[in-house]
Amino acid sequence: MPRHHDAAVLASPRARLSVERMPTPDPAAGEVVVRVGAVAVNPIDWVIQGTGSVTYRWLPTPAVLGSDVAGEVVAIGSGVTRFRVGDRVFGLATGTDRGRDSRREGAFQEYTTLLEHLTAPTPAGVTDVQAAVLPLGVSTAACALFQPRHLGLTVRDPADTRPRERGVVVVWGGSTSVGMNAIQLARAAGYDVVSTASPRNADLVRSLGADVVVDHGSAGAVDELVAGIDGRPVVGAVALGETSTAGCIEVLHRTGGSVLAMASTPVSLAALASRRRLFPAMVPVFARLGLKTLLLNARARRAGIRAAFVWGTSLRDDEVGRRLWGRLLPEWLADGTVRPLPEAIVAGDGVGAIQEALDRQRAGVSARKIVATL
Ligand SMILES: NC(=O)c1ccc[n+]([C@@H]2O[C@H](COP(=O)([O-])OP(=O)(O)OC[C@H]3O[C@@H](n4cnc5c(N)ncnc54)[C@H](OP(=O)(O)O)[C@@H]3O)[C@@H](O)[C@H]2O)c1
Repeated sequence: MPRHHDAAVLASPRARLSVERMPTPDPAAGEVVVRVGAVAVNPIDWVIQGTGSVTYRWLPTPAVLGSDVAGEVVAIGSGVTRFRVGDRVFGLATGTDRGRDSRREGAFQEYTTLLEHLTAPTPAGVTDVQAAVLPLGVSTAACALFQPRHLGLTVRDPADTRPRERGVVVVWGGSTSVGMNAIQLARAAGYDVVSTASPRNADLVRSLGADVVVDHGSAGAVDELVAGIDGRPVVGAVALGETSTAGCIEVLHRTGGSVLAMASTPVSLAALASRRRLFPAMVPVFARLGLKTLLLNARARRAGIRAAFVWGTSLRDDEVGRRLWGRLLPEWLADGTVRPLPEAIVAGDGVGAIQEALDRQRAGVSARKIVATL
């Protein structure tokens, strides 16, 4: 391992990422150090870059952002049993969370540390670019579906072949990165799925196992989902996309469902993140966000729906994370139950390409994940 490596660094709040040298970390207990081969970008990366001084106030700069890593293990910490030096792996970097150290644990650098229990072997035949699309998407989906505070679903034992009606999961936003993973995980766990997507992505979402796919841009989306559910028991809904929470509350109310996992803010922060100054532009944006959140929560309560916000890295500290990364994901990838999606678009090579990747993700993607190779 080198003593130093290149990293894409957020040198100060709202700065563009710059390439700087960073000390290469040694692995602590339960960690692996990875030579990063590919990283993917997520909306949260440009949200932190543009608004972190108010939304991620715990994160000091200089910081290294990024959650999605694929590469090769170059060192293992004490107690690590699942990996050896030379293994190809992918994993969830949680460096921007409260109490973590982004400079050791952020994805956007040539070497980073991953927690063994949030890392999985990359299957033969899957490239680093393909594997890098998964970590935050699949983790957020798993939090929404399996954590007891959200839908609390159980995974059906594959040996159990009895025909059994397990119920329907509503995934609003099935063509998002999180949504594609949520559909695949819910189907793998033995549930039916109904979902939404733009018409151009409907076939793709259907191919993942959703038996009903309606256009989330259509005024009749709620009616069509309710009709498609067709009286089946609804075990809960996962809301992805700016308008998803209101739609999900309506669907749950009309079908007797009572649990809602909300992953998206009801007001986009994209425009604010790119403004030259946060203040005073942030005042009306956060006022609208606060008010909408209050109203949606009140509407959910009135409809008898338990609604909670999902935090995609919270599985770091629970059994859902250990089970997903330690057993389910390796099994489901190996047998083809889960495909690494969305398909990647490679924005460029080297840590210097990561800012361009962020800009492309913020400009908007449709059923694609923006990736940089390192
Ligand atoms: N809470 C957390 O921990 C957490 C973690 C990860 C992501 N998220 C949030 O989850 C959401 C999805 O993230 P992502 O990375 O999966 O996003 P993404 O892949 O960047 O999402 C792009 C997709 O959004 C879809 N979309 C656009 N408008 C929509 C709407 N009104 N309703 C439903 N889908 C819509 C588009 O589908 P079409 O092209 O088919 O229209 C497009 O394919 C974002 O809001 C993100 O901030 C939250």
